[in-house]
Amino acid sequence: MTIQSNSETLITIFGGSGFLGRHVVRALCKRHYRIRVAVRRPDLTNYLQPLGRVGQVHAVQANLRYADSIAAAVRGSHIVINLVGILYQRGKQSFSAVQAYGAEAVAQAAAREGARLIHVSAIGADAESPSLYARSKAQGEAAALAARPDAVVFRPSVVFGPEDDFFNKFAAMATISPVLPLIGGGETLFQPVFCGDVAEAIARAADGAAKAGTTYELGGPEIFSFRELMEIMLTTIDRRRLLMPLPYGIAKLQAGLLQYLPKPLLTPDQVELLKIDNVVSRAATREHRTLEGLGIAPHTVQSEIPHYLWRFRKFGQFSRQEA
Ligand SMILES: NC(=O)c1ccc[n+]([C@@H]2O[C@H](COP(=O)([O-])OP(=O)(O)OC[C@H]3O[C@@H](n4cnc5c(N)ncnc54)[C@H](OP(=O)(O)O)[C@@H]3O)[C@@H](O)[C@H]2O)c1
Repeated sequence: MTIQSNSETLITIFGGSGFLGRHVVRALCKRHYRIRVAVRRPDLTNYLQPLGRVGQVHAVQANLRYADSIAAAVRGSHIVINLVGILYQRGKQSFSAVQAYGAEAVAQAAAREGARLIHVSAIGADAESPSLYARSKAQGEAAALAARPDAVVFRPSVVFGPEDDFFNKFAAMATISPVLPLIGGGETLFQPVFCGDVAEAIARAADGAAKAGTTYELGGPEIFSFRELMEIMLTTIDRRRLLMPLPYGIAKLQAGLLQYLPKPLLTPDQVELLKIDNVVSRAATREHRTLEGLGIAPHTVQSEIPHYLWRFRKFGQFSRQEA
């Protein structure tokens, strides 16, 4: 058996241009892997090159809705990582096309190439869920494991970090609105996980440290209700806002309109997702299918968010030094 060094190992990353993508690219660069980022717009990925040595990261064009582009992107790869996900549907960019059939096409291309597969899904993926997002994520996972039974699947809870779409979104909202809504009373539980910890888990899977054919659930060290997360965020940015409970029915009506914004603030499908707690299951904890099971001590929300939410404080330029 030939033992391949990391610098001889080519990893193709679909979705490498996203929030989690840049952290995964950075973690793999540190380990000296060769990285091919497969994205819809390679011309917009110049910020990824400096994460590695000269020539270590390069971008190619691929769209998960076009199987030929996937096959071309996977050619010659030893490992394939699928980070592609969407939060709302638009035209041909549907949950089913991207997260179910797109994921299947990636998995089948990896299988044909003999490449190992690391697939990123989400806690809440469930074939029986009323949410289309969650059902398509479950289909994507099933397709990944059907094509590559030795695939490693990661299901993160909500991911936080400098470019996140969670704390940044609500902090930005708090700068312009005196009220923040608590959908369903804000009782839904989350286990926010730091982007660097998710990236490290994926990198360890690339190293071969994760169990093949296993689904890991990735959560941080603490569980919070949505209300508690809003309170922590508001304390961090030093602002007081009214937290107003909004029943699911009314939230769904509002989401019916908000979903048509160019970048929807809320969709009816997301309201469905909010009805279910987003935390690591007891089974995953018991079976060590977690960050801790991979030897990673997760970062806390309070230790990380001050480093990037400072700009939403009233006097951000002073607070940066405190962070
Ligand atoms: N962030 C979280 O809180 C969170 C929580 C749980 C699970 N996850 C999962 O983690 C993964 C990464 O999430 P993220 O937060 O990094 O998302 P993100 O920032 O929105 O990135 C998604 C990536 O998918 C790409 N993409 C979308 N449609 C595509 C298509 N048709 N073909 C090819 N690429 C396409 C995007 O590229 P373009 O620039 O071309 O759009 C982007 O690179 C996703 O699977 C997501 O579901 C995330």
